Amino acid sequence: MIVGGRIRVPGDKSLTHRALFLAALAPGDSVVHGALDSLDARSTARVLRRLGATIAALREGRPVRIRGRERFRRPTQRLHCGNSGTTTRLLLGLLAAHDFSATLTGDASLRRRPMRRVSAPLAMMGARFVEHAGDGLPLTIRGGALHSLAYQLPVSSAQIKSCLLFAGMAGRVEVKLREPQGSSRDHTERLLRAFGYTITEEPDGWIRFEPTGRLTPFEMRVPGDISSAAFPLGAAVLAEGGELVVSEVGLNPTRTGFLRVLERLGAHPERINQREEQGEPVGELRVVPSALRGTVVSPGEIPGVIDEIPLLAVLASRAQGETVFRGAGELRVKESDRLTLLATNLRAVGVQAEVRGDDLHIAGTTTPPRGRIRTAGDHRIAMAFAVLGTVPGARVSVDDMACAAVSYPGFPEMLKSIGRRSAR
Ligand code: S3P
Repeated sequence: MIVGGRIRVPGDKSLTHRALFLAALAPGDSVVHGALDSLDARSTARVLRRLGATIAALREGRPVRIRGRERFRRPTQRLHCGNSGTTTRLLLGLLAAHDFSATLTGDASLRRRPMRRVSAPLAMMGARFVEHAGDGLPLTIRGGALHSLAYQLPVSSAQIKSCLLFAGMAGRVEVKLREPQGSSRDHTERLLRAFGYTITEEPDGWIRFEPTGRLTPFEMRVPGDISSAAFPLGAAVLAEGGELVVSEVGLNPTRTGFLRVLERLGAHPERINQREEQGEPVGELRVVPSALRGTVVSPGEIPGVIDEIPLLAVLASRAQGETVFRGAGELRVKESDRLTLLATNLRAVGVQAEVRGDDLHIAGTTTPPRGRIRTAGDHRIAMAFAVLGTVPGARVSVDDMACAAVSYPGFPEMLKSIGRRSAR
């Protein structure tokens, strides 16, 4: 296709969740502009309402008004977190500091995802848990007064880190954390600093949180989600001509690892008009089609591209030579087992792809991809292979495109709208 246009992508998912959580515990009225209105964002809004926050229905393009309260109210029903791991894990951190029991559950995918990675350190802080299904959901938490914590995370994960920082904030205790390899996204740290909390990064890699701040009502703007922008940008890289600009997108350095890998693959993403808005870098991204070559993504880079690997993997399938994602085992515990599913779906469309240990190997090809994709309801698998389906001669059918609405409502329409015409 020939690509063209200047688009905006939906609001950043990570920032939307965090903004809703913080507003729900800021006594008074907060306003969030540009918030994502997706199934995952609605899950956070839904559980926060059950805990006593007043949140109007999320509507794309409309400011979200939230009336928060000093402390959550005891929920009278299970808290259903839908498909959203971020909702579940960040909420557990806040509930750890509340003196009541709450039971969290979710859809079939979320119920299988590991929760001991957050319940174990929260238990060290003093929270109690009842597991109903092993290391998954449903899970009951009983919070209360917390102790301080010094903890080395078993994996680099913004969800674990943010859960524990939220516990420190809501429980007013010190928390010291260290991630093993590569830093995950730092939106929580930036937001908490804005409320007067002290977060210092020590030279040996420890992050120290001190409860010096206080949540007060706020107004903020959420930029577009770079993890969503990755899909149209990827489609533009694979196109036969034209150019695409994504405006108003978040460019936080802990989220732009994707652009560095894109460059190594041979693309030329250009940042335009970069500025800082409320503590987060924001700007425009422009790409043109490019010939691609294979690259190696190292284990230390994985946390910085964790959500973009599905898209990078389909780009790698169109590159000359081999691409390897090393140490990508975390992909096994996302909305699906993305490591296995990427390899099987790439093979299903005629690409040589293999998982060896925690590494994903992909051999690029010029043969048009043809075959059926099984998404297992995973939004990013669906969107990545829909992008692959735009290359000339492709015949890719995706079994479930509706799941894209977990993070990117309107994705299929957007993908159609950026393809101006086909060269053949
Ligand atoms: C997120 C963190 C990431 C990411 C998820 C959103 C967040 O998970 O995959 O989509 O908002 O904190 P991990 O950091 O646990 O890998």
